[in-house]
Amino acid sequence: MSEPAHDQHAEMMLQQTAQADSGADMPLEPGVHAPQPAAQTYQEPQMAQPTENLGDMRPVPRVAIQAFCDVEATAAIIDHAGKDRRMTKAHVKVQMGGIAAAVNFYQTATTPNLILVESRLEGMDMIHELEKLADVCDEGTNVVVIGHRNDVQMYRDLISRGVAEYLVAPISMSDVMDIVTSLFVNPDAAPLGSTMAFLGAKGGVGSSTIAHNVAWSISSNFKSDVILTDFDLAFGTANIDFDQDPAQGVAEAVFSADRIDETYLDRLLAKCSDHLSLLAAPSTLDREYDFSPDDFTQLLDVAQRGTPNIVVDLPHVWTGWMRQVLSNADKIIITATPDLASLRNTKNLVDTISEIRPNDEKPFLVLNQCNVPKRPEISVADFTGPLGIEASVVIPFEPALFGLASNNGQMISETDPKSEIAASLDTLAQIVTGRREVQPESKKKMGSFLSRFSKKKE
Ligand SMILES: Nc1ncnc2c1ncn2[C@@H]1O[C@H](COP(=O)(O)OP(=O)(O)OP(=O)(O)O)[C@@H](O)[C@H]1O
Ligand SMILES: [Mg+2]
Repeated sequence: MSEPAHDQHAEMMLQQTAQADSGADMPLEPGVHAPQPAAQTYQEPQMAQPTENLGDMRPVPRVAIQAFCDVEATAAIIDHAGKDRRMTKAHVKVQMGGIAAAVNFYQTATTPNLILVESRLEGMDMIHELEKLADVCDEGTNVVVIGHRNDVQMYRDLISRGVAEYLVAPISMSDVMDIVTSLFVNPDAAPLGSTMAFLGAKGGVGSSTIAHNVAWSISSNFKSDVILTDFDLAFGTANIDFDQDPAQGVAEAVFSADRIDETYLDRLLAKCSDHLSLLAAPSTLDREYDFSPDDFTQLLDVAQRGTPNIVVDLPHVWTGWMRQVLSNADKIIITATPDLASLRNTKNLVDTISEIRPNDEKPFLVLNQCNVPKRPEISVADFTGPLGIEASVVIPFEPALFGLASNNGQMISETDPKSEIAASLDTLAQIVTGRREVQPESKKKMGSFLSRFSKKKE
């Protein structure tokens, strides 16, 4: 089993020894924004000048950017950049306190797509501070350092430790925009978003409910943007669960796949909350929904380029397009109930998915609707044994809570935030986003398993 994500990232940031190679006078690659060897005195930062060519910049996707500054003027520049029209989809927050404030803040908060930290420290003093930041950084977070010393050696030391870029104060607005563009808009950059495909082992096992709650949890707990796509075109329930009735949605996206780009997709999304958008199913039967295997590929590609998390709610079917979506997804989450038909189907799914994607991790398993009074059930150990995977979470049958949430168009954590089921859904959100590992069932008890995790972050 792999190490927790933040440790991997910390290791990457720190894997180089403190002694970096000499050669401060070696030329830097063309186009790299890097300091020059000579030390410089500090000057007041400048706002964007009319000569700064921001007009060529493409809009920035739905990324979260947080800055911890040491100098008010740097904070003002970043804040100003955050208000640029090309940054409207990004969530930019600026605060003071430098690296120490960032370390303190991320003890309890998940890290965003990009952290900008400003520091007046130099050499090993700065590196020691950044080590503390690496310890609390989640996988996939980029760190950009704004320093006050124009020093190539410092630049190299930081880049070799996994820092995305080192800028020298005073920075300009276009420095900030350039960094954001190179990290998130560059067509050569890896896709920003991770796709999480949720499917049920049988009809009605609660796969959609779990998918919607996990989407909600990621968006509200991690403040990271999520698009929830409902691929059950005929019978999808995401619109009901989020109390939305958008005129357009996933049908327009797939039936005009050749037209779909980021602007068009934006128009089809219904906003459920600050960080959660829904691409709803029509949930009508006025046409047939027959698709070719690749019909959803373009839509998911476009969504992935602009948003960090894509939750895909899949129907209980087995078709060419379903196989294609599963083979391209970053994470797969199978929801099953503790009965024989679910076990057989889950086994077939796990085996087939392993064949389709032999080099990927196995799907995550959610055992749902467990402990129904008087119903004979397969135990968790007997269910997971033949599959060779642990259950990520085990959720009891709670018709009162699920029924109330559904009737109110609410998520479980809105209906009963203190319930263990809300906590389990938060745990699942942490697991599928790589923020937590699956805990073997043998080490946890139904009903109190969450309290047994050593919780580093809420
Ligand atoms: N743990 C649970 N306890 C009680 N009811 C639940 C539980 N989980 C889900 N439900 C309820 O089960 C019903 C079916 O859920 P849902 O539509 O999410 O299942 P599904 O697997 O997506 O079904 P479909 O095969 O139609 O896509 C819903 O009414 C939901 O509120
Ligand atoms: Mg469903």
